Amino acid sequence: MVSKERPYVIINCAASADGKIAMPDRRQVRLSSKEDFERVIGLRKWSDAILVGIGTVLSDNPRLDTKDEMSKQPDKVVLDRFLRIPKDAEVFNGGSKVYLLVGDDIDRDIDRENAEIIRCRTIDNLIDLRDALTKLREKGIERLLVEGGGEVIWSFLREGLFDEFMVYLSPVVIGGRSSPTIADGEGVRKEDEIIRLRIDRVERLGDGILIRYLKR
Ligand SMILES: NC(=O)c1ccc[n+]([C@@H]2O[C@H](COP(=O)([O-])OP(=O)(O)OC[C@H]3O[C@@H](n4cnc5c(N)ncnc54)[C@H](OP(=O)(O)O)[C@@H]3O)[C@@H](O)[C@H]2O)c1
Repeated sequence: MVSKERPYVIINCAASADGKIAMPDRRQVRLSSKEDFERVIGLRKWSDAILVGIGTVLSDNPRLDTKDEMSKQPDKVVLDRFLRIPKDAEVFNGGSKVYLLVGDDIDRDIDRENAEIIRCRTIDNLIDLRDALTKLREKGIERLLVEGGGEVIWSFLREGLFDEFMVYLSPVVIGGRSSPTIADGEGVRKEDEIIRLRIDRVERLGDGILIRYLKR
């Protein structure tokens, strides 16, 4: 159910069997099967906006569209506290609106017609997600798809700001202590801070499995 305070949030990611979401040098790797890719496109069509962190923009340079010119393209949202996004980033192509969520002390602008800067409060030098979601909701975004990367997913999970958390596990192993994982960030400090989830659904999809977690 969509609330008036924040959008309905689905976090989605694809990981290896060992929980990695990219190569040890952070390079992008295709982990979704054809069937999962189609599911992700369906989620993108469902969403009003797709959100990623600036880390994902800088390493993958994704376009974040529905790969279907006939469908309405979702808006894009980038968490970019210091406005580091390059002017020629792929997210600006495709015509839809790109909301750049920056810190409230940033007074620079960006010369891209479809970009809109939203200044947000910061906590520990990161964008305050509660403030960010309130502002996105005020922009009319009711359904938000969070696509990563590991730092951003961790922040959404830690703050409990999600409704569904979907993980596609591909039957491959990447390994490497520096490979980004599903949830990076600081991690919990104490056992009682562990984020507990409930498995709502498990299904085989192509050669991997899709798990849908809900909050416990
Ligand atoms: N397999 C998948 O499904 C998938 C999907 C997406 C990405 N990836 C992979 O993930 C990797 C990139 O992930 P990443 O963890 O390096 O970067 P990220 O999560 O995309 O972005 C993290 C950056 O976002 C900014 N940020 C601002 N507010 C934040 C907040 N509240 N919480 C967290 N971050 C915030 C910070 O940079 P500033 O301080 O500069 O603002 C932070 O360093 C790449 O290797 C990519 O290939 C995989």
